[in-house]
Amino acid sequence: MNDSATIATTGKVVEVDHPLVKHKLTLLRRVECDTAQFRLLVEELANLLTYEATKDLETEDVEIDTPITRMTGSSVSGKKVAVVPILRAGLGMVDGVLRMVPVARIGHIGLYRDEETLEPVTYYEKLPDDMAQRDVLVLDPMLATGGSVTVAVDALKRAGAQRIKMLAILAAPEGIARLQADHPDVDIYVAGIDERLNEKGYIVPGLGDAGDRLFGTK
Ligand code: PRP
Ligand code: URA
Repeated sequence: MNDSATIATTGKVVEVDHPLVKHKLTLLRRVECDTAQFRLLVEELANLLTYEATKDLETEDVEIDTPITRMTGSSVSGKKVAVVPILRAGLGMVDGVLRMVPVARIGHIGLYRDEETLEPVTYYEKLPDDMAQRDVLVLDPMLATGGSVTVAVDALKRAGAQRIKMLAILAAPEGIARLQADHPDVDIYVAGIDERLNEKGYIVPGLGDAGDRLFGTK
């Protein structure tokens, strides 16, 4: 018997399988990768993730003139986009996303993980006022326990957001499971899925502390 009321659906998880993504991710992980190179690679990976995450944008036919003739082209027609980095480390992904979607509005959610409890602490929130009308891309390079992005998505939904995707550079299985359990409607686009978390909540093998490596604070 097919009882649709008992079927649970979860968002999809897309691990982008592309040689350039795997190459750049490997460079990023290396302990020798310095701050300048780390920033550039995070931006480039965010750009490539955006390409995947926007594959379902709606388009419409448009009549245009080329220098040669008139033709029917294709133009993005769907909902407007909001990009929401989770501070700090999500900031490193913004320019890479905006290169693909330059007209997007930008919101900010400030969170840090308490080092003892690993629970996220919110310190800032500023979002566009028409979130219900926008496709939202929430950015954080690291999906570790999933606590930070879950709290961020809670805030986005309180502000009216209805269509949310998460873009991450690296994820742990624990974080994916947490986000899917708490927000099954959110699709995840990620450059790599690692083995596990260590006892301090770091992704293994991972790349270390993304915020510190981006901003050179350690
Ligand atoms: C890092 C990272 C994520 C969070 C992921 O931020 O950028 O926001 O940890 O961990 P979670 O999935 O277990 O919540 P951090 O707290 O180090 O703050 P920062 O970005 O300001 O460095
Ligand atoms: N946050 C990071 O920056 N790195 C991890 O491995 C986990 C959380």
